[in-house]
Amino acid sequence: MAYTSIALTCENGIATLTFNRPKALNALNATLLEEFTDALAGISKDQAIRVLILTGAGEKAFVAGADITEIATLSPLGAKQFARRGQEAIGALQGLAIPAIAAVNGYALGGGCEMALACDFIYASDTAMFGLPEINLGIIPGFGGTQRLPRLVGANRAKEMIFTGKHLSAAEAKEIGLVNKIFPPAELLAAAAETAKLIAGKGRASLCAAKQSVDQGLNADLTTGLAIERDAFALCLASPDAKEGTGAFLEKRKPVFTGDLNS
Ligand code: CAA
Repeated sequence: MAYTSIALTCENGIATLTFNRPKALNALNATLLEEFTDALAGISKDQAIRVLILTGAGEKAFVAGADITEIATLSPLGAKQFARRGQEAIGALQGLAIPAIAAVNGYALGGGCEMALACDFIYASDTAMFGLPEINLGIIPGFGGTQRLPRLVGANRAKEMIFTGKHLSAAEAKEIGLVNKIFPPAELLAAAAETAKLIAGKGRASLCAAKQSVDQGLNADLTTGLAIERDAFALCLASPDAKEGTGAFLEKRKPVFTGDLNS
């Protein structure tokens, strides 16, 4: 599929997906969501890719939300389908086996904030703004914001953001645990790439197991979560990367993880 609304590059185990409708502040329309879903399907099949970075084209926005021109004319049934399509696309992002980093370079509003929330962590430029402003349109978040935001920052903080529709600066977002680190705009992508490179050097099996263990465990009680962790730990130990990692330590050399899950 040829992409017009996103751009995708893959290099040294790192995929970088850029939302690419800068004139509309990278708003999520049907075409963009279709291309996004297609790109994620390709990424998830490519065993060589170990990390994904998401960012936005232009200097103003990561993603300024779902495309309001599409929302404005929806019937209630159409709105349900629209929300389902967005939730599925963002669900596919959260469901990626490999880690995903959001490099938020400007507005991350509505569906844009919801996109960032489905990544494993968020780096932001000091110009970034976060918010769920749907209340100002007479609607509510529909791509997972009422669910993922309270799970990340707590119900009270999420409700304040959702009820007021106010934007949070990068510093405010960091204070409530939405953002991990803040950088000057010109340094954001390099910082995300540096962390991605560090992650890409790890074993694929252990990266995927660690992500799965945290994510599944968060939706379970502690006893179940610990059982999930034990199983993932045992599976990891059977991987070639575990042989390489433990062997390299004992031989006092650096490990070279092949990430080959089939050997
Ligand atoms: N959908 C469609 N177009 C959008 C858009 C969106 N979400 N956000 C911005 N744009 C367009 C603007 O219409 C404008 O287009 P034109 O040049 O053709 O007029 C262009 O992008 C630039 O935007 P502005 O001129 O408004 O730029 P600004 O700097 O004055 O303001 C902004 C920036 C504060 C982000 C403002 O554009 C804004 O408030 N955007 C809407 C944010 C929003 O409400 N997002 C939630 C959408 S609903 C949603 O996401 C529901 C869900 O959960 C799925």
